Amino acid sequence: MAPVAAFRGGPVLGIETSCDETSAAVVDQSGIRGLAIASQDAHAAFGGVVPEIAAREHIRSLDAMVRHAMCEAEVDHADIAGVGVTAGPGLVGALLAGVNWAKAYAFARGLPLLGVHHMEGHLFGTALEHESAQPPFIGLLVSGGHTLLLEALAWGRYRLLGQTRDDAAGEAFDKVARRLGLPYPGGPQIQRAAERSAAAGGAADGGAGRFRLPRPMLSRRDLPGDPAYYDMSFSGLKTAVARIAEQLEEEGALADAVDDLAADFQEAVVDVLAEKTRRAVEQTGCRRVVLGGGVARNSRLREGLAERLGSSGELYAPSPRLATDNAAMIAAAALFRLARGERSPWSLNAEAALAFPGLA
Ligand code: KG4
Ligand code: ZN
Repeated sequence: MAPVAAFRGGPVLGIETSCDETSAAVVDQSGIRGLAIASQDAHAAFGGVVPEIAAREHIRSLDAMVRHAMCEAEVDHADIAGVGVTAGPGLVGALLAGVNWAKAYAFARGLPLLGVHHMEGHLFGTALEHESAQPPFIGLLVSGGHTLLLEALAWGRYRLLGQTRDDAAGEAFDKVARRLGLPYPGGPQIQRAAERSAAAGGAADGGAGRFRLPRPMLSRRDLPGDPAYYDMSFSGLKTAVARIAEQLEEEGALADAVDDLAADFQEAVVDVLAEKTRRAVEQTGCRRVVLGGGVARNSRLREGLAERLGSSGELYAPSPRLATDNAAMIAAAALFRLARGERSPWSLNAEAALAFPGLA
């Protein structure tokens, strides 16, 4: 095996291919030097991500993304000091495209390699944009595949407070959108439909106030210490929306009700996420809240969280560019771990269900 040079500090090349964004970035201690993201639109026609297409598109786009990121960063291959790559969780074929690219690059150049957990990456993504988004904080991670509420004691050291027991928040957005006949990806479509509903005179709380939807696993009777205090569930909510949609369809009234139904669904998700997060702030005494993941793009979620936290918390949310999957957050997580001496072996593999690192 080629000997691996020690990490000398300096720019880290990050690679992200866990789902349908192909991204490369160059990050150093000063922040993002270069970032390129290609969102694969080949999936829209299928109403969801097709794993085989995702893997092939990653292989096709990776070289160009790396060139773009390095060009923007004004660095040469010789300047790169380490390589970070998403090793999981995600679609295994998609992940493998990035992991193999990163391994080959690091091996050929004798650079230290680090496999990054995608969801930990999302926390670093928000920290790249907010200097104060540093531990200790409450992390709320909401993506298409995961919904996690955790307490970050330090970078790399976390206490899992709660998670979804079934669908992830983003998955629920996507599935509800599909049921309502809105195109993929559904999250942004639901938000837009809810905005139309509000413009047409929705209820004051952000929803339309027209459909009574459940708030699964949210009750005043929940007590700290019960798993249900922090855990979430979105599958029942999705089914409740589907049932109403079916009823409306039979009455020929669905098309006119889509915007209001989307608004009330969105409000139910926001209500659950905001209340669980408020509980975490109250129970831990941790004021800072770091939001991450694709659903963080939802403006009503950011608004609802800020409202619910009031003066008892400080919310740090990523910009839309860093909320969506990107390699800058992966490079930032790798930079932190490489700097403290961690390395991944050349046998690094992609893991579809990689466990969150550093759980206390
Ligand atoms: O983090 P991400 O880019 O990929 C994963 O790691 O899964 O998250 C993608 C998810 C999708 O489910 C998408 O519908 C959702 O984020 N999303 C949104 C919005 N924009 C993206 N959900 C709600 N409102 C949005 N504006
Ligand atoms: Zn993600």
